[in-house]
Amino acid sequence: MRVCSIVGARPQFIKAAMVSRALVDAGIEEVLIHTGQHYDDNLNRIFFEELRLPPPQIHLGVGSGTHAEQTGLMMIRLEAALRNMKPAPDWVLIYGDTNSTLVGALVASKLKLPLAHVEAGLRSFNRTMPEEINRVVADHLSQLLFAPTPTAVENLRREGITRGVHLTGDVMQEAVWCYARRAQQQVPLTHLTGHAPGQYYLATVHRAENTDNPVRLQGIFEGLGRLELPVILPLHPRTRARLDGSIRIPANVELRKPVGYLAMLTLVQHARAVLTDSGGLQKEAVWLGVPCITLRDETEWIETLEGGWNQLVGADPERIAAAAHRQPTGPAPTLKNGAEAPSQHIVRLLQG
Ligand code: UD1
Ligand code: UDP
Repeated sequence: MRVCSIVGARPQFIKAAMVSRALVDAGIEEVLIHTGQHYDDNLNRIFFEELRLPPPQIHLGVGSGTHAEQTGLMMIRLEAALRNMKPAPDWVLIYGDTNSTLVGALVASKLKLPLAHVEAGLRSFNRTMPEEINRVVADHLSQLLFAPTPTAVENLRREGITRGVHLTGDVMQEAVWCYARRAQQQVPLTHLTGHAPGQYYLATVHRAENTDNPVRLQGIFEGLGRLELPVILPLHPRTRARLDGSIRIPANVELRKPVGYLAMLTLVQHARAVLTDSGGLQKEAVWLGVPCITLRDETEWIETLEGGWNQLVGADPERIAAAAHRQPTGPAPTLKNGAEAPSQHIVRLLQG
């Protein structure tokens, strides 16, 4: 049996690393195709190294561009790669909701290759997000849909998708379990910052709705400036490119380059709270018992909102500052996975 996994962006390397390992354990051949969507060392290479994801057999080298440029070039190159693959893969496996996911879904479907989607059924119900378009297309084209949460299963049901849907749990949670402690040992807090545990906030900002709207981006920085502790902000290159002098960076905000997964897990675990518009980071904060403040108007991960562990504040400075003063109640919500790890469950379903 042969599985072809398609990855291209930072969160996909983390998800694929877990599944890749389970494929090896099951003796299944994997062909990893990297679209080239993320290429900077700190968005790309460091994840392969830290998570021991084998280097991709095929690299499409697409890089950045407008949505049409990026997806168009990816489609052309992926089609050629999949057509040349002998024997053809038994499954094409796509992850999450990026342009690499969309391209994997479209190309595999047109080549009549069986398609399986890891992290199926997530919805923000906001079609202005490129990710929402990517998810909807990927889910409607997939024959196997691996849903991380019961909410995701329900979202699919409401769109009429019930065949091939399986509640597998979340491979991102599996990764956190696997790496949280190791992160603290290999990349301790003292290697990352002079701030004491609990004496800083951690923030990330990269969503198009925030970076491409100067009013929202300024609002976020203003909100971070009102926090009473330093804010460590590993900045995505997309956001850095928007800091052209017109956005004021408050004195307590420490801009950094993006960090690797282990450094990130260490920084999360010791933060007073996490402020982010990332999908993955919202969950990681809450799973690690750290309150999250989400710089968006909606979230796909509604379970994290339970007990106030995650708060939706948009890009409004007042709401950002106020959220930092509220404490969550009750235990932090966590997923109830079965005895089988999500990655093993996924591989068992691929085996049929
Ligand atoms: C993409 C995903 C987003 C995901 C994020 C994970 C889409 C539409 N968006 O957003 O869902 O949350 O990845 O991080 O697929 N750039 C670099 N170096 C790189 C990669 C990008 O400098 O290695 C810069 C380029 O200026 C590029 C911009 O970042 O134009 C945006 O990159 P792109 O891959 O288009 O989208 P992301 O914002 O990374
Ligand atoms: N992440 C990281 N370094 C960073 C920022 C994020 O390792 O500087 C990790 C983060 O912990 C999570 C994943 O990258 O595991 C989330 O990726 P991102 O926020 O880019 O994408 P999203 O989840 O929003 O699609």
